[in-house]
Amino acid sequence: MTLNRSPTPLRRLDGKVAIITGGASGIGTSAVRIFHENGAKVIIADIQDEIGQKIADELGDDVSYIHCDVSKEDDVSNLVDAAVHRHGKLDIMYSNAGVLDRSFSGILDVTKSDLDKVLGVNVMGAFWGAKHAARVMIPEKNGCILFTSSATTNIAGLSSHPYAASKCAVLGLVRNLAAELGQHGIRVNCVAPFVVATGIAGSRDPMQAEALETMVTTWANLKGRVLKADDIAKAALYLASDDANYVSGLNLVVDGGYSVVNPTMLKTLKLMD
Ligand SMILES: NC(=O)c1ccc[n+]([C@@H]2O[C@H](COP(=O)([O-])OP(=O)(O)OC[C@H]3O[C@@H](n4cnc5c(N)ncnc54)[C@H](O)[C@@H]3O)[C@@H](O)[C@H]2O)c1
Repeated sequence: MTLNRSPTPLRRLDGKVAIITGGASGIGTSAVRIFHENGAKVIIADIQDEIGQKIADELGDDVSYIHCDVSKEDDVSNLVDAAVHRHGKLDIMYSNAGVLDRSFSGILDVTKSDLDKVLGVNVMGAFWGAKHAARVMIPEKNGCILFTSSATTNIAGLSSHPYAASKCAVLGLVRNLAAELGQHGIRVNCVAPFVVATGIAGSRDPMQAEALETMVTTWANLKGRVLKADDIAKAALYLASDDANYVSGLNLVVDGGYSVVNPTMLKTLKLMD
């Protein structure tokens, strides 16, 4: 008996137009490359103009760069208008840009400038991205809005307080948006990474990245592999594609099981010191 199945399409975003904020580095750059390989027209939005433009030039006509500080509503509004002007529509808004505050400090050391910085980019940036994407997606009754949250939405103690609070706020926004925008056929989801050796994690050069990866593997749950930016971008690809046609309101945690494991069990089984 032959199974008459149509072949899986190789280009999962063919014909789609995507904005990726924070596309000039780390997870964002991986997403730019992977979305582009899958047939999307991609607009990189970032504040690192030289690097962002270089990535766009390297990838060719279907990828462009636009300067956008996501904490400024006018920048985000102009970005969305430019995408629609250039390509006639916007299918995917991936709000990925994010920042970390100074260091892992306690509540007594939190300052207003930490909060302004982290909430300004991570939370306000998420709001402006959603608002202006929704503005052009609602009339089409279609679209996909994505965010990069963090495994800090699932487990405490992985980051500073301002950062954890900012990512939990993003998750709250995702769920509320899934409720409102579901009425217009728009899906809203986020990807929640564990630690990836990128710029935000203080790993701009390969030596620093390797040192961080070695350290993280000692306490990661899933042994024998290292989480890379591409792993997060592939999770975002799934959520952005029609493969996730009925998926909305999801926080897709990519942490190798770290946030759901109770270490007491591993100690009891003598699988852990
Ligand atoms: N790397 C990790 O371990 C990790 C873990 C969980 C979540 N995340 C999240 O993943 C996302 C991507 O981070 P990354 O790891 O690739 O770090 P990264 O520092 O390599 O990339 C972040 C990008 O965001 C851009 N950016 C910062 N402020 C901006 C602003 N105001 N406007 C526009 N762009 C801005 C930066 O220029 C940079 O290109 C962030 O939201 C981050 O919080 C990262």
